[in-house]
Amino acid sequence: MDDARVPVIDIRGMVKVYSPGGEAEVVALKGVDLCIHAGDFVAIMGPSGSGKSTLMNLIGCLDTPTEGSYHCDGVDVSTLDAEQLAQLRLEKIGFVFQGFNLLPRMSARENVAMPLGYARVPVAERGERADQALAAVGLAERGGHTPSELSGGQQQRVAIARALINQPPVILADEPTGALDSKTGEEILALFKRLRDEGHTVILITHDADVAAHADRILVMRDGELHPQEHDA
Ligand SMILES: Nc1ncnc2c1ncn2[C@@H]1O[C@H](COP(=O)(O)OP(=O)(O)OP(=O)(O)O)[C@@H](O)[C@H]1O
Ligand SMILES: [Mg+2]
Repeated sequence: MDDARVPVIDIRGMVKVYSPGGEAEVVALKGVDLCIHAGDFVAIMGPSGSGKSTLMNLIGCLDTPTEGSYHCDGVDVSTLDAEQLAQLRLEKIGFVFQGFNLLPRMSARENVAMPLGYARVPVAERGERADQALAAVGLAERGGHTPSELSGGQQQRVAIARALINQPPVILADEPTGALDSKTGEEILALFKRLRDEGHTVILITHDADVAAHADRILVMRDGELHPQEHDA
């Protein structure tokens, strides 16, 4: 189908070789094409070692490809220097890491406000913005709690609020429900769907077919190649 909109993620022929030429050489991506438009909710599945995190790191501009092109929201990422890349990450991409990555001594509010410091938002504004983000994930009452005073699902929602604080168009989540029971996992998935409905682009890595089934599109990574999911007869 012809789609005139500029994709949020436009990856062509992406190859990633770790330790090229060396004895430990690994070809982790073998020419991946990936086109994702604003408001898509895409799940990426695939066995351990197939290249999912490698692709995620490249989408998130945390690593550079060996070959191929990547345009993020229309910007050719290869033309950016380190500082510009950091800025792009800050503006365009919210990361939800596996295992939450919250700072244990800080309150939920302080954890959520963290990226605002990098974005040079005035201190006076940060608390208010963090409270808004917490309210958006249903945690308005929990801003003063530290992570150990929150349930697993609440901690994951704090991590999502932190990913959303700069209103990034793209949300990248690596196994966001992996550590949660199925009911809490459903709540997190409902939250991602709401974000999708609000126009965010959601890219989710998961081992769980039931989780992936919530996405609009499922892609499967197999031995460094990305394919649309095949439907078993
Ligand atoms: N920094 C690295 N240096 C060398 N090889 C690496 C590096 N990171 C990953 N690899 C290799 O690249 C391949 C893909 O790894 P990747 O982490 O992308 O897999 P994955 O699909 O995320 O797996 P999992 O489901 O276990 O997280 C693997 O063979 C892995 O050993
Ligand atoms: Mg991985």
